[in-house]
Amino acid sequence: MNALDALHLRSSVPKLSDPLPSPEMLENIYKAAFSAADHAVLRPWRFLVVKGDSRQKLGELFVEAGLANDASLQPNAIEKLRRKPLRAPLVLVCISSYKPHPKVPEIEQDLSAGAATQNMLLAAFAQGFGAMWRTGSLAYNPIVKAGLGLSAEEKIIGFLYIGTIDGGTKRLCEPDVQSYFQEW
Ligand SMILES: Cc1cc2nc3c(=O)[nH]c(=O)nc-3n(C[C@H](O)[C@H](O)[C@H](O)COP(=O)(O)O)c2cc1C
Repeated sequence: MNALDALHLRSSVPKLSDPLPSPEMLENIYKAAFSAADHAVLRPWRFLVVKGDSRQKLGELFVEAGLANDASLQPNAIEKLRRKPLRAPLVLVCISSYKPHPKVPEIEQDLSAGAATQNMLLAAFAQGFGAMWRTGSLAYNPIVKAGLGLSAEEKIIGFLYIGTIDGGTKRLCEPDVQSYFQEW
């Protein structure tokens, strides 16, 4: 797929299944993060690769966080939390990892980490795999952050679910591009 097709046609895929992209394709996805625009080349990101049984461990962490927030959670809500990471064979925990720098404020570093994450969405799509960027309150939960080993300066900016497209992809509606651009 050429670059413009990937940029123009990508869409999120919520229903994902096995198999994972091959190791070579995964490497292509990971490498795509590194062409994100990145002031002073700080590489202010890191990614936790959660696959196989580690997804269950992440589900347990989500349950722990959910119960700490609301001890009266009903069993079906607990089960929903537990199963969240099982929605794809691979979950990348995308972390903005702030590096103090005299010229690069935190906002710029968060944006670079976001661009790196978006590049991985595109690289998955360009190779025929599905992906979806999710957050929800768990991304900002201190128990989840601690359980995943984040430092005080770090943020979870997304859980990137990646896998084989299960079912269709949605039709994109044509955006009114021009209305977002004004001559100044
Ligand atoms: C930072 C961020 C967090 C998101 N979190 C969620 C989420 O928790 N749940 C969800 O359904 N979509 C979430 N989305 C939106 C989807 O990833 C997706 O972009 C949206 O459904 C539009 O679909 P599209 O990517 O095909 O245009 C998030 C997007 C971003 C950029």
